[in-house]
Amino acid sequence: MMKDMSTSPAQAAKGSQEYIKDVSEIVHASDAALYLIEVSSTMSMGNYHAINVSMLSMLLGKAMGFDAKTVEILGLGALLHDVGKVKLPDEIRNAKTPKLSPPQKKLYERHPQYGVEIVQAIKDFPKDAKTIIFQHHEYIDGSGFPSQLTEGKISVLSQITALCNLYDKLVNSRHTDMKLTSAEVVSYSFKSFTQRINPKVLQAFVKTIGVYPPGTIVVLNDKRTGIVTSINQASLLNPNIMLYDPDVDRKQAQIINLADDPNLRVESTVRRDDVPEEVLDYFNLGGSVGFQVQKSATKS
Ligand SMILES: [Fe+2]
Repeated sequence: MMKDMSTSPAQAAKGSQEYIKDVSEIVHASDAALYLIEVSSTMSMGNYHAINVSMLSMLLGKAMGFDAKTVEILGLGALLHDVGKVKLPDEIRNAKTPKLSPPQKKLYERHPQYGVEIVQAIKDFPKDAKTIIFQHHEYIDGSGFPSQLTEGKISVLSQITALCNLYDKLVNSRHTDMKLTSAEVVSYSFKSFTQRINPKVLQAFVKTIGVYPPGTIVVLNDKRTGIVTSINQASLLNPNIMLYDPDVDRKQAQIINLADDPNLRVESTVRRDDVPEEVLDYFNLGGSVGFQVQKSATKS
């Protein structure tokens, strides 16, 4: 997608707009839920990160009460937030940010502006989506880039995208050595981003993504291990869980809804580093977590 943006931006943007329109319809369905998906090894890091940020942002936008059209624009801006990176040299685009030299960092921090330049060439590209692309690294305390904007100057849609961008980077640990569980990342995000993101956006985020976000590895009170495959918006403490059972082929693995059994509950969450290799393989995490909004398969 990002590559297509550099060669034929109009066509790539059209594809993105159609994709977001379809997803946005699902987001607005009454039984929409956030699911864990398998990240295919053929999919580039940039692409699934863009999709994750877009999915999370749309769910958050809906939870904050934005109308369908606005959520669609949010999804588009979030999907294309890093499109300007196509103009960066490979060594800067693929580097971990702390490893960049000061001049390289300066160039890296131009990617929001480059993104705007790319979408400017697209006829009828929504202004609010363009703003998201420009502001997705701006924070309300003025510590962001490229313009060090402060509260009041950053759109709420940009703040939603900024938060989901930070969250997905933490979950997938590309720019950090932190190895937290997805659930710990939510509470960490809440505590550490209070200076940078409006509290209302943060609160909606915790409420929406839940205590046990998809991808969280959990141990139940009956000592079975499982992975959260989706969250029940109606009952955040009772997610759907795929159980680890070496005697059952992973394709036939049992998925349970905790809400169905009052005696069953999550006892603890487990860091990926503390999970045996065979369990990680069984859950097919592939080292990365992908999100997708789908209509609920299991009744909650
Ligand atoms: Fe970015």
